[in-house]
Amino acid sequence: MRRAGHLVAEVLAGLRERIKPGVTTAALDHWAEQYIRRQGGEPSFKGYRGYPASVCISIDQEIVHGIPGRRRLREGQVVSLDVGVICEGYQGDAAITAGVGQISPEAEALLRVTEQSLAAGIAMVRAGRRLGDVSHAIQTTAERAGFNVIREYVGHGIGTAMHEDPQIPNFGPAGRGPVLRPGMTLAIEPMLVAGDYHTRVLDDGWTVVTADGSLAAHFEHTVAVTDGDPEVLTRL
Ligand code: MF3
Ligand code: CO
Repeated sequence: MRRAGHLVAEVLAGLRERIKPGVTTAALDHWAEQYIRRQGGEPSFKGYRGYPASVCISIDQEIVHGIPGRRRLREGQVVSLDVGVICEGYQGDAAITAGVGQISPEAEALLRVTEQSLAAGIAMVRAGRRLGDVSHAIQTTAERAGFNVIREYVGHGIGTAMHEDPQIPNFGPAGRGPVLRPGMTLAIEPMLVAGDYHTRVLDDGWTVVTADGSLAAHFEHTVAVTDGDPEVLTRL
């Protein structure tokens, strides 16, 4: 899983450098797929329940599962990139959101707080704590800053399959849920919105958008529970 996670981190770093006005989302996806395969991995999203690409690319009011295509990025947009890799039978899954060129102060704040809420969740990944502590830390970090967390999509256990038990909501009470044990591996993925948390799926059957059209951001890491500090597997 360390290898898969490291490859995911490299892909996201490469994609981040390639986010520029004028680039098509298909070109980003193509680069990522080539890179993953050259490094001996496989893009886990490709073909997953019929998903047609290697990366999910979601722009502005799109929250997750945006499909790459001929669209070109434009200055001021907010772009979420979600990457999953299988390496030697193990999975890694992570996401970042970044601005295209200059973005509004509100968008900057949403990105910053979403990343902070992921960090707050990860800080709770310690043996003996409960999963609800992770969820609660994410929710309080988001709501304290005036943002909302998506309810209809959640994080997940991860290992030899991309989606394993338990589900990891980005909201809920502390002190509840399964106790965290060393060796558990979790994909923690807060999705925050500037407006209301209700969602809708576009006619392509994949792209999840905010029902009210408000801006969304998504950050994700694959994290292991250890005897000590949390080990983030999808960080370079
Ligand atoms: N990273 C997403 C998740 O954690 C998976 C993308 S859905 C796929 O659920 F179909 F594109 F794979
Ligand atoms: Co995930």
